[in-house]
Amino acid sequence: MKNKIHQTAYVCYENWEETPEHYRALITEARKAKEGSYAPYSGFNVGAALLLNNGKVIHGSNQENAAYPIGFCAERTALSAAASLASHEKIQSIAITCSSEKNPVNTPAAPCGICRQTIFEAECKHKQDIEVILMGETGEVYVFKSIKDLLPLHFDADFL
Ligand code: THU
Repeated sequence: MKNKIHQTAYVCYENWEETPEHYRALITEARKAKEGSYAPYSGFNVGAALLLNNGKVIHGSNQENAAYPIGFCAERTALSAAASLASHEKIQSIAITCSSEKNPVNTPAAPCGICRQTIFEAECKHKQDIEVILMGETGEVYVFKSIKDLLPLHFDADFL
């Protein structure tokens, strides 16, 4: 028997001022994306911006539904848009931001499990890691080199 430990390495910038300009630019795009959020049920608005290898930026936002489980998260909306509009273009980074009608969001919110697996599939499809940049409305900014850092023991096609 062995006890094993998974560790996650990521960079944490203390605030907006300390965050490098290229990350701030993509977070700003995610904030613009959030303007398209439709979240009348949760009041939780999420925006995601993908930076493609060709420099183009693709937006996505959460889209809820009165039949709650069929709503879409912002990350998967952005990834579907990228797959439809630029299916062969690799994805360099994703910035994700959020706000809530109930409380200020002062810490980064990490993507849900389904979105982690979907971002991982995009990494596998394009054979390129996707950098993940997270920020709430204010506060720290987290940067992960790959979604694999947020998805230990990931499930991939090698099992199939
Ligand atoms: N949401 C996202 O858009 N991305 C996530 O990774 C987590 C949750 C959305 C789904 C729902 O519209 C709202 O946030 C509250 O769960």
